[in-house]
Amino acid sequence: MASSSYNSTADPSRQTALRRQQQVLSHLQGKIQDPKRVIRQIAVYGAGIMGGGIAQVAAQAGYKVTLWDMRQVDIERGMAAVRKSLERTAKKLKKNAGWVDQALGLISTTTDQMQACSKADLVIEAIVENLEIKQKLFRSLDAVAKPDCIFATNTSSLLVRDVAASLSSERKQKTVALHFFNPVAMMKLVEIAYMDGTEAGLLELLKAWVRDIGKTPVLCRDTPGFIVNRLLVPYNSEARMLVERGDATIDDVDTAMKLGAGYPMGPFELMDMTGIDTGYHIMKGWYESAPGLKGDIRFKPTPQMEQMISDGHLGRKTGQGFYTYK
Ligand SMILES: NC(=O)c1ccc[n+]([C@@H]2O[C@H](COP(=O)([O-])OP(=O)(O)OC[C@H]3O[C@@H](n4cnc5c(N)ncnc54)[C@H](O)[C@@H]3O)[C@@H](O)[C@H]2O)c1
Repeated sequence: MASSSYNSTADPSRQTALRRQQQVLSHLQGKIQDPKRVIRQIAVYGAGIMGGGIAQVAAQAGYKVTLWDMRQVDIERGMAAVRKSLERTAKKLKKNAGWVDQALGLISTTTDQMQACSKADLVIEAIVENLEIKQKLFRSLDAVAKPDCIFATNTSSLLVRDVAASLSSERKQKTVALHFFNPVAMMKLVEIAYMDGTEAGLLELLKAWVRDIGKTPVLCRDTPGFIVNRLLVPYNSEARMLVERGDATIDDVDTAMKLGAGYPMGPFELMDMTGIDTGYHIMKGWYESAPGLKGDIRFKPTPQMEQMISDGHLGRKTGQGFYTYK
């Protein structure tokens, strides 16, 4: 495989920090063999598109999961989606109905926020992309979770250090982003984003855990959008602005990127799959306050987006976005 010698940063102190991190990681490589010895119980907060998917892939790999959401109706909707997705996966992998039931049997559900994490070794939050709400959740969980419980956020656009701002300094060292991709059952990547004080051993453990659930981990410092969204969000914005200016149609932009760039779906199909509201919150947050991105016109939420949200046209999840779904 080709390797890259591209110099990753011009900042010498950051280069030293990155080198040190890499040295510690390679020292630890192979020492953590079985993540199941450390991570036995997982609590997932949010039974929406992402939380349900994360619960599914963890249970499929044999982990016990408690899935929390605010209301019973959210849990029921989430678990129905998990069952459907498990059945699809079983068909693809040629597994029988017993395999589906076994995975479902590892997922318990609750609307009791504190109880969900009381025994957890790993908490993954996948609730709405709103900084204050995520901070509030982490603050409440910090008080009841086990001292060595790892906290992870599935945020698409916020900084880990901001989500973790209300945590104790001990917990901050055990807090990362575990950023899954949609649809979780199919997408192979998990970005692990770390802060300056994150323990290297923790990263090695989480890499092993990500591999154990059948995914591939990549590491990234705590920077807006990590790797994938930092590249994708501007791309989506340019596509949207192209159409809003009247330069091309939605269909033609999607066709162009599929046939001309070899992408599996066009930007508008992608935005519909991600959720118009989720994309809107990412852009708004970056436009208002993200380091290096604040005030960037590409991320300024437009009246058209706001209209789509107030009309409930949130993409695939509501049946209507840039396209209509049955
Ligand atoms: N949708 C994607 O493609 C995608 C991909 C990667 C990461 N993410 C991130 O994952 C997280 C969840 O996104 P999603 O697409 O699953 O959203 P979703 O709308 O499907 O689910 C969000 C969940 O949050 C819960 N929620 C809403 N308000 C809440 C509150 N005040 N307190 C606690 N819970 C609340 C809802 O009940 C819902 O179950 C977000 O941080 C998002 O940025 C999304």
